[in-house]
Amino acid sequence: MRRTLAATMHLRHLALTNFRNYIRLELDLPLGVTIVQGGNAQGKSNLLEAIVFLATGKSPRASSDSELVNWLVKDEPYPFARAAAEVVREDRVEQIDITLLPNKGNGRFRKQVRINAVNKRAMDLVGIMLTVLFRPEDVDLVSGSPSQRRRYLDIALCQMEPTYCRALSHYQKVLTQRNALLRHLAERGGDAGEQLRYWDEKLVESGSLVVARRLWLLHELEQEAALLHLDLSGGVERLHLRYLPSFDPGQQSPPRRTSYSRTGTGPERGVVYAALSQEQVRASFLAHLHAGRSRDLAAGMTLIGPHRDDLGFYLGERNLRAYGSRGQQRTAALASKLAEVAIMTRVSGESPILLLDDVMSELDATRRRMLLEVIPMVKQTIVTTTDWDDFADDLLPQAHRLEVREGRVKAWTSGPPRDASAAPTL
Ligand SMILES: Nc1ncnc2c1ncn2[C@@H]1O[C@H](COP(=O)(O)OP(=O)(O)O)[C@@H](O)[C@H]1O
Ligand SMILES: [Mg+2]
Repeated sequence: MRRTLAATMHLRHLALTNFRNYIRLELDLPLGVTIVQGGNAQGKSNLLEAIVFLATGKSPRASSDSELVNWLVKDEPYPFARAAAEVVREDRVEQIDITLLPNKGNGRFRKQVRINAVNKRAMDLVGIMLTVLFRPEDVDLVSGSPSQRRRYLDIALCQMEPTYCRALSHYQKVLTQRNALLRHLAERGGDAGEQLRYWDEKLVESGSLVVARRLWLLHELEQEAALLHLDLSGGVERLHLRYLPSFDPGQQSPPRRTSYSRTGTGPERGVVYAALSQEQVRASFLAHLHAGRSRDLAAGMTLIGPHRDDLGFYLGERNLRAYGSRGQQRTAALASKLAEVAIMTRVSGESPILLLDDVMSELDATRRRMLLEVIPMVKQTIVTTTDWDDFADDLLPQAHRLEVREGRVKAWTSGPPRDASAAPTL
C-alpha cells in the first residue's frame, strides 16, 4: 500500500468536440452518482469511451483513433476531434487534453496530448485519472476470448503502473520485429542463432515484467474476488483466478523439446506464482524461447510469451469457461471486475471513477444489488442506462440525472409521472 489517504479524485468537467456523435459538449460532473439515460445509439457508450480515452490515451473499443472523429467533419479541409477533462486531485486540478489531428493526407489521425497545456506523450496520461469501466461485454469475460482477458489485466495494470504500460508497449514493438525476423529467416535462411539472440534478450526484458506484474495482480484480484464471489453466489465454493501461461514462468530449465502449453500438457488448472520475481520470469522465459526456437522458426512467429497467455476462472478444480453455467460465469466476471475497484483503491490511495455502461439490464436482481453495493465505496460513478426503471428507488433520488439525445446531454426533467396510465382512478 503506497498511501492510505482516500482523496476525492474526480472528473469535474468533460469537453468534447467532434468526438464520435458529440459535435460539441461541455459537461460538469459532480462527485457521487450520475445516471445518464438515453435510448439506443444516442451516445451513452461514446461518453464513457471519451472518459476512458482521456484516462488511458486509448479507446476501449475503437481499433483506430480515426473512428473517434465525427463522420461529418471528416470531409472538411482540416478535420479534428478533441476530448478534454478537468480532473480534481487531492490538492490540484489537472487539465488533460487530447486532440486528434489529420496525419498528412493518409486518412489517419495522430494524437496530440497535453497535460496542463504542456505537450506530453500519451503514456504520461496514465495514472492521472483512474477508471474502472464495466460494459455488457465484460459480463462475458469468463467465456470470451483470451485476448479480452489479457486486455482486462493490461488495462488495470497500465493505470496503476506506468512502468507496466511502457513495458507492454515495448514488448509489442519487439514482438513485431522478432516475428518479422522469424519470417525472413524462414524464407531466406541465415544464421538464426546470432540474429535472434538480440531480439530474444529484448523480448524477455519487457515480457518478464509484464508476466511478473500480471501474476501479482491476479494474486491480489483473487483475494478480493473470492470474497465478493462468496457473497454473490451465496455458495460455498471458492473462486480461484489462475494465470494460464504459454510457458512455465517458474521453470528455468525446460525440456529440450518443450511441449508446455495451456492446451497441451501444461497445467490445466493454471498456475499460482504470486511470489515469482521478474528475474525468475526472465530466466525461464529466455530458456523457453531458446528451447522453442525451431518451432518459432517453423511457424514464422513467436509462440510463447505474455501475448499468448490467458487467465482462468475456477470454482474448485473446474474451469468455469468450460464447465460453468452462464450464470456462474457472469457471477465470476462481476466479482473480478468489482475486485479491480478495491485493488485500485488500495494501491493508489484513491477510489477510481466507476463507469458502468448499460450493464444493469444484463444482470439479474441479485447481481444488480451486488453492483449497486459497490457504488457507495467509490467517490464518483457514471452510469448509463436506457431505462430509469433499472434503478431501485433508493439510488435515483440521490443521483445526478442526465439525458442524452443524439449527442447532446441535458439535465433530466421529470416528465409526466412514469406510470401515469396505470395510476388508479379515484
Ligand atoms: N465517428 C463517429 N461519428 C459520428 N457518429 C458516430 C461515430 N461513431 C459512432 N457514431 C454513432 O454514435 C451513435 C451513438 O453511439 P453509442 O454511444 O455507442 O450509443 P449508445 O447510446 O447506444 O451507447 C451511434 O448512432 C453511432 O453510429
Ligand atoms: Mg452503448
